[in-house]
Amino acid sequence: MTDYRKLFDLTGKTAVVLGAASGIGKSSAEALAALGASVLCADWSLDGAQETVSAIRASGGSADAASCDAASAADVASLAKIARQIFPRLDIAVTTPGLNIRKTILDYTEEDLDRVINLNIKGTVWFFQAFGRIMVEQKVGSLIACSSVRAVTIEPGLAVYGSTKAAIGLLVQGFASEVGRHGVRVNAIAPSIVETALTAPFKQRPDIYNLYAGHTVFNRWSSADEVATAVAYLASDAASYVSGSTLFVDGGWTAVDGPPTGLTQLAK
Ligand SMILES: NC(=O)c1ccc[n+]([C@@H]2O[C@H](COP(=O)([O-])OP(=O)(O)OC[C@H]3O[C@@H](n4cnc5c(N)ncnc54)[C@H](O)[C@@H]3O)[C@@H](O)[C@H]2O)c1
Repeated sequence: MTDYRKLFDLTGKTAVVLGAASGIGKSSAEALAALGASVLCADWSLDGAQETVSAIRASGGSADAASCDAASAADVASLAKIARQIFPRLDIAVTTPGLNIRKTILDYTEEDLDRVINLNIKGTVWFFQAFGRIMVEQKVGSLIACSSVRAVTIEPGLAVYGSTKAAIGLLVQGFASEVGRHGVRVNAIAPSIVETALTAPFKQRPDIYNLYAGHTVFNRWSSADEVATAVAYLASDAASYVSGSTLFVDGGWTAVDGPPTGLTQLAK
């Protein structure tokens, strides 16, 4: 029988997680390490990345830290060089940083647009190039990018952000089609509403907090850990036939278009 437990086990694997200082990136680094991978934790906050490394080491895992601006092609290329130096082979590469400037299209400035596109779209391309190159050479690897429910469903003020997340889905499909024959898999996760530093300001606004919770079938936000487990799955050999996918980890957000109406009760 297939050893299913082994397929989820990351013992002996190596991983880079960019965005590892906080939120989904931090939890992903911790999850990959807990499942046995050695993790290079990168972030533009080196102190933050080092804190994640300390937490991983404190629980018996293996990790190192590096600084990297995900919007800089040169920085991402340097990070790939560091990964090559410290790992004999790179199995997993995850990138999470994303920028959302909440403004209507009428209010967007060129500078806003450049910043969002530089990180969300160009940053994903730089990441795929730098780490995809390593994986194509070694003929194995799993790349994971970070999309959002905003790739497929939107609210006012999120058109630009949502467009970049939709673009990530197509970059994933396109790159998966280019590197599949080299044994490299490319996927994304798409969260809905996750308790992280990014969304912390909403906690001060119970009306917004509850409104977002109500979009899910569980009527609650997710933790970053609940998204990290999806990252760990896509990283593992358990997902050996999964490529070009965006895995929605959204509490059912995109499956329904609102909270219960009570009409089922009326029909009784
Ligand atoms: N939190 C949510 O509810 C939610 C929902 C859907 C999608 N997302 C997406 O998830 C991703 C991660 O979000 P999060 O909630 O974990 O955010 P977060 O703010 O908790 O963590 C983001 C991390 O990325 C780092 N970072 C930011 N810009 C960087 C850059 N240019 N270079 C290197 N590091 C950089 C930050 O220092 C931080 O450590 C984003 O792409 C976001 O769009 C988040």
